[in-house]
Amino acid sequence: MHRKNIFLIGFMGAGKSTVARRLRDIYGMRLIEMDEQIEAQEGMPISKIFATRGEEYFRQLETGLLTGLQQEENTVVSCGGGVPMRECNVEAMRKSGTVVCLSARPETIYERVRHTHNRPLLEGNMNVEYIAGLLQARLPKYMEAADVTVPTDGRSAEEICREILSAVKG
Ligand code: S3P
Repeated sequence: MHRKNIFLIGFMGAGKSTVARRLRDIYGMRLIEMDEQIEAQEGMPISKIFATRGEEYFRQLETGLLTGLQQEENTVVSCGGGVPMRECNVEAMRKSGTVVCLSARPETIYERVRHTHNRPLLEGNMNVEYIAGLLQARLPKYMEAADVTVPTDGRSAEEICREILSAVKG
C-alpha cells in the first residue's frame, strides 16, 4: 500500500478530518487526528487548552506531536489549521511524507464551520469577512508548505481522495 505518509494541511473547515477518515477507510492507512490526539493527551478540549494555557502552549504541543512522528509510515495525519505557520513543523512533515493542502473558498469554509464551537480562533469571529482575512494572511505559508494543493469546493470526499492518491503516487 502507500508507504509514504500524507499530511493534510489547510484552513479550518477545509475538509482535512473528513478526507483523512476516508483515506483511512478506503486505503487502510493509519489515521492521526492532531487536535484529537492533543485533547486526549491534555485531557481537555482545545478551547480549554487555549483558555487556560494559552495559544503558544498549544503550538508547542503541535510541534512536539509532529516531530514525534518520524518513524510513522502509511499514515495520514490531519493537521490543525495553524500547523504550517511554523517552519519547524513544515520541516518535520517534509521529512516523513507528502504535504497536501486542501483549499476552499471563504464562503465554503463558513458554511462548513458556522454551527461549530470547538475552534477558539473563530469564537466571536464567525463570519465570512474574518475567515477571508485570516485565510489570506495564511495562504502564503500554506502554499509554501504544500507539495500539492487540492480544491474541495463542491467536491465529494471520494473525488478528493482519488486526486490526492494520484498526486502522491505520481
Ligand atoms: C486552528 C485550527 C484548529 C485547531 C485550533 C487552531 C488554527 O484545527 O488546531 O483551533 O490555528 O487554524 P482544525 O483546522 O482541524 O479546525
